Amino acid sequence: MKHLRVYHNSIRSVRQLRFSHLGNISAFCLPAQTASFRRIFESAFSKRTMATAMAKRLEGKTIVVTGASSGIGRSTAKEFARTAPKNLKLILTARRIDSLQELAKEIKEEVGDGVQTLPVKLDVSNPEEVKNFVSSLPVEFQDIDVLVNNAGLVKGVAQAPDIDLADINTMFNTNVTGLINMTQAILPIFKKRSDGGRGDIINIGSIAGREAYPGGSIYCATKAAVKSFTEALRKELISTRIRIIEIDPGQVETEFSIVRYYGDKSKADAVYANCEPLTPEDIAEIIVFAVGRRENVVIADTLIFPNHQASPGHVYKKP
Ligand SMILES: NC(=O)c1ccc[n+]([C@@H]2O[C@H](COP(=O)([O-])OP(=O)(O)OC[C@H]3O[C@@H](n4cnc5c(N)ncnc54)[C@H](OP(=O)(O)O)[C@@H]3O)[C@@H](O)[C@H]2O)c1
Repeated sequence: MKHLRVYHNSIRSVRQLRFSHLGNISAFCLPAQTASFRRIFESAFSKRTMATAMAKRLEGKTIVVTGASSGIGRSTAKEFARTAPKNLKLILTARRIDSLQELAKEIKEEVGDGVQTLPVKLDVSNPEEVKNFVSSLPVEFQDIDVLVNNAGLVKGVAQAPDIDLADINTMFNTNVTGLINMTQAILPIFKKRSDGGRGDIINIGSIAGREAYPGGSIYCATKAAVKSFTEALRKELISTRIRIIEIDPGQVETEFSIVRYYGDKSKADAVYANCEPLTPEDIAEIIVFAVGRRENVVIADTLIFPNHQASPGHVYKKP
């Protein structure tokens, strides 16, 4: 009973205070209870305040996600919609338009009409399509604020001198030239804004771009190229408010390995057997968190592993 009274008194008092005065909880709690109440209140209120602040920062933005038909891109679109459900425009791009339309439907069912979605068929490895991308958008979707350069893939595990030329070209044209062309297509929109420009580019790199591994030489080279391009771009844009953010995942279970093994699901499943890879939602949360920071905060570079991984080759598998 005594505990209940203290709890209710505390709630009443907290309501009367501004949240920034949480430090004063000790004034109306017994000393022994202060620590646990502080923990409960601070976590409950600061989480809500942070979530609200993030939603506010994202509200009204127009966001492009490449590779939104699957995996990390798909989860990222959903995470943006869930975080700022009141007022957001999402341009969902990939080659598989049916999957994008399905995603748009799911987002609408989940969060309602506050999030406007626009599925757009776009092959980032096709320079002509990328060049015409912005001008082909409806006018109300053209003022883009955020570009998530996520589309990417790996093909095969072949080693030199046996790497298929078509696979080499596909990986470079998608992961490197596609990402650069998308950046060049969107940057002029950012640069028209005040203070030299505003907007966010999130490049999805990989641990593969930091540490190369046998059987992944081309994919690793493409992701190392993404890293170099990203770092140079951040420096080139230093006098603007444009944020250049790189997010490098380790092992994530998506369609990635299915694509690597040319559709052989059993080979893909073997990659994730006896271990616990990251989920695409894990990476999506980090992307949305990075974009949702105050404009002066740049989460320039992140490396995200599942618990059992420490490098491309250091992966603990349960016996
Ligand atoms: N999964 C991992 O372990 C992992 C680790 C580190 C980094 N990454 C990176 O994360 C990003 C997303 O991969 P994911 O794991 O989510 O794999 P995923 O499930 O296979 O998704 C890849 C996405 O890229 C799109 N895409 C591929 N080629 C494209 C093209 N030419 N034009 C437009 N879109 C294209 C695919 O859509 P369509 O086929 O419909 O075009 C799909 O939506 C990639 O850049 C990948 O390199 C993944």
